[in-house]
Amino acid sequence: MRIVVLTGAGISAESGLRTFRAADGLWEDHRIEDVATPEAFARDPALVHRFYNARRSAAAQAKPNLAHHALADLAKRHDLTLVTQNVDDLHERGGSTNVIHMHGELASALCAACGHRWPSPAETDVKTPCPACSAAAARPDIVWFGEMPYHMERIWQAIERAEIFAAVGTSGQVYPAAGFGQHARRTGAHCVELNLDQSAVSRDFHEQLIGPATHIVPKWVAGLG
Ligand code: OAD
Repeated sequence: MRIVVLTGAGISAESGLRTFRAADGLWEDHRIEDVATPEAFARDPALVHRFYNARRSAAAQAKPNLAHHALADLAKRHDLTLVTQNVDDLHERGGSTNVIHMHGELASALCAACGHRWPSPAETDVKTPCPACSAAAARPDIVWFGEMPYHMERIWQAIERAEIFAAVGTSGQVYPAAGFGQHARRTGAHCVELNLDQSAVSRDFHEQLIGPATHIVPKWVAGLG
């Protein structure tokens, strides 16, 4: 079967990584919207580097959980396109390959001057030089609010040919990912939402599985045969 799975911060929650919009979702009293924008980076680049250094360190210490592993198993039996909004590498460490990171990756650095990408050091700061052009213009290779998510053409195409679309652990508050369920439904996919709770877009899905990702994702995958 052709399946597209979209994951969000909820799939990594039981690995110990905080979600964005939970009650504890603030970082040093900043909302995500206050550090994850080009304007925030222009205003206070050191703060934005520290934010992502902290997230890179937390992600490095986290381990993939049963939900990440279950999606790696799913790819062995079906034609799976795995799209994640997450910038951690827990899908890859859980055994998935060809993961589409639509919001970028902590593992990658991007030169704001020349556009060169390279594997990010554990910590970056305002002095980190670009290996290609030497400008001290490193930024995390993360898609910020107001920037275009990566790989969109490939994602829309996969959704349009999908028989099943599933969204796992995402609040449905950030577009375009929040609109994938509606688009998948219109183009003929059976749509399933797997979440601890209702999301902002639950009505777009035919079916809802409520519970922690480590329980409901392996169960759903097993049910697909
Ligand atoms: P959110 O923090 O907005 O939502 C997390 C979702 O996971 C919520 O719907 C929770 O109910 C659910 N959840 C929490 N724990 C769970 C668990 N154990 N099992 C299953 N579900 C659980 O995170 P995202 O939807 O991923 O963008 O946020 C989308 C984007 O907003 C992020 O990629 C990030 C952020 O700003 C950028 O950084 C560009």
